[in-house]
Amino acid sequence: MSTSETVYLNGEFMPLENARVPVLDRGFIFGDGVYEVIPVYSRRPFRLPEHCRRLQRSLDAVRIANPMTDAEWARLVGELVARNADEDQYIYLQVTRGVAKRDHAFPRDAKPTVFVMSSPLATPARELVENGVPCVTAVDFRWLKCDVKSVSLLGNCLLRQAAADAGAAETVLFRDGWLTEASASNVFVVKGGRLLAPPKNHLMLPGITYDVVLELAAAKNIPAEVREIAEREVRDADELWLTSSTREVLAITTLDGRPVGGGRPGAVFKTVYQAYQEFKRKVMRQAA
Ligand code: PDD
Repeated sequence: MSTSETVYLNGEFMPLENARVPVLDRGFIFGDGVYEVIPVYSRRPFRLPEHCRRLQRSLDAVRIANPMTDAEWARLVGELVARNADEDQYIYLQVTRGVAKRDHAFPRDAKPTVFVMSSPLATPARELVENGVPCVTAVDFRWLKCDVKSVSLLGNCLLRQAAADAGAAETVLFRDGWLTEASASNVFVVKGGRLLAPPKNHLMLPGITYDVVLELAAAKNIPAEVREIAEREVRDADELWLTSSTREVLAITTLDGRPVGGGRPGAVFKTVYQAYQEFKRKVMRQAA
């Protein structure tokens, strides 16, 4: 098998280094497009229908016609997974409005550009799961459509770089004193044995992992509340977690240099992390 990753671009499979997009693609010029990141375990995409549903929501929000049906997306993702070497992969797919002369208003007849790639999925190392990760905080200065999974990620990149600069894993965001999410993950809070999650609205991405975590909490009889969470409650939390398709569930053990709770991943985290791993194995067995 070739060591180069195989990608898909506008109807063709090719080695990553051969994939080319014209410079007038609106994804390049305006960040005019949307994307999805889908984890694949043992060659089986995890929660693909939910990712397809969110992709449709994002496309609708930015008025790009979906170039494929869900069945076509599933076939394409399956084929790309088969063409790549790793058992665990993550699929990155993006749809832009296409190539057109530069004009902010939408072109009349551009054809959406479809790009899909696979990368090896490295879920967090044992050491990170066992020790948790440091995070910093920042004011959430992004736009008011954070529920759209847009490729315009400059705000997220700047915020994530603040974490990188501080040697931290993520930047937890507050807007007007309320928790929204982190630069590329959702955030959960535990206080007094109760799980708290901010409500899905225009200020955060409706995470697929976020839904899985709330389902698992319910299955494990962990009391959970979806409501607005004040910055003070985050700073006072017993536990804080990050969730995302590539990081799964990860404990935050310091926030702005101060320990979260006891400074170690907490008991509720351990229960949900374990449940997540079991759930993954169960779903993968069923799909086999
Ligand atoms: N990011 N919030 C933001 C801003 C994100 O970018 C992500 C995911 C999430 C978590 O969503 P999900 O559980 O569906 O992965 C929340 C992906 C992994 C990325 O951009 O690479």
